[in-house]
Amino acid sequence: MDILVKGGVLADGTQADIAISGGRIAAVEPGIDADAAEVIDATGKLVSAPFVDPHFHMDATLSYGQPRVNGSGTLLEGIALWGELKQQQSRDDIVARALDYCRQAVAKGVLAIRSHVDVTDESFNTVEALLEVRDLVSDTLDLQLVAFPQDGWFRAQGAEAAVIRALDAGVDVVGGIPHFERTMADGAASVRAACELAAERGLRVDLHCDESDDPMSRHIETLAAETLRCGLQGRVAGSHLTSMHSMDNYYVAKILPLIAEAQVAAIPNPLINITLQGRMDTYPKRRGMTRVPELRAAGVTVAFGQDCVRDPWYPLGSGDMLDVAHMGLHVALMTAPDQMRAAYQMVTATPAEIMGLDFGLAPGKRASLVVLDAPDPIEALRLRPARLAVVSNGRIVARTAPAQTAFAGGF
Ligand code: FE2
Repeated sequence: MDILVKGGVLADGTQADIAISGGRIAAVEPGIDADAAEVIDATGKLVSAPFVDPHFHMDATLSYGQPRVNGSGTLLEGIALWGELKQQQSRDDIVARALDYCRQAVAKGVLAIRSHVDVTDESFNTVEALLEVRDLVSDTLDLQLVAFPQDGWFRAQGAEAAVIRALDAGVDVVGGIPHFERTMADGAASVRAACELAAERGLRVDLHCDESDDPMSRHIETLAAETLRCGLQGRVAGSHLTSMHSMDNYYVAKILPLIAEAQVAAIPNPLINITLQGRMDTYPKRRGMTRVPELRAAGVTVAFGQDCVRDPWYPLGSGDMLDVAHMGLHVALMTAPDQMRAAYQMVTATPAEIMGLDFGLAPGKRASLVVLDAPDPIEALRLRPARLAVVSNGRIVARTAPAQTAFAGGF
């Protein structure tokens, strides 16, 4: 054996040792007695499948304040700021920042990230930089790239051609931003174009979809219908879907079964949705996150994404998917024990499923896992503790010592 993880507790509460050999999980059972080159003592600690971030922007990360801070805090000012930054940054700048972020995320147990990459940067620096980063980190971190026309599939000149160029260069997934097109009709046409392109090339689709407080935004309807028409069931995700927060209840009752029928996954991004939406409200201020419990109850696959860390849209973030799930369960009022356990799944197993990854703690799966300084998923969400050991493809790639306090409070 290469690695033996001893005495851990799995997310479902069962105790098991995990034996790892040749980059794969060889066995998951109590009391494994085998020689191993490395033994990780995980006695009483949660041993979990890796964290997976299904929605991120790695070309913009760690650029906060460049060229200046987003004063209004809105999505639209963020897009405008990014438009300036992308003309100023070099390919090397993007690679350096992205690698820095990847190190931070891996230390938090994140072993797969789906990152949108803006293809409307005329220099194409963003795409070339992130393709290079994907290669550099590939032994440790699965980086899946989405060809994202930030300034609009039709609204930005040459964007459709840029999406195709990015896919030709090896970008994995077709992206889009229908709510940013000039008209609802252009938005619907962009959804059709994205789905047709994905069907033609056998690719997945992940659109920024209805990311607004507009109760009349209807692109998720088109996305579900086009998914069915193009035969893309199970390969499409609608990211954000924040307008669903504001939609009429009768319409939502119509749209939920259509999303489930089309097997379109939903990817809300709690940290960002709660801070970018509701900006034009007085009081009460809308929360601006999609209807997570209702989507789940309708049978829709829902995973939480990070979206932004210190970039033109968000000043905070740490790469920790437990922060994301913590915010998500608060905003969605998912505080019952089974809902909190579901929130943990929504940053581990569920996004892995959406991205088509072979993760999971079972024999034959890739040997990728995280040992946390907490006994179970709910305590992990509460404490967001140290990731004591992170194993990727059978190799220990990060270790963090548990936080320790010397208390001298006198009681
Ligand atoms: Fe995004």
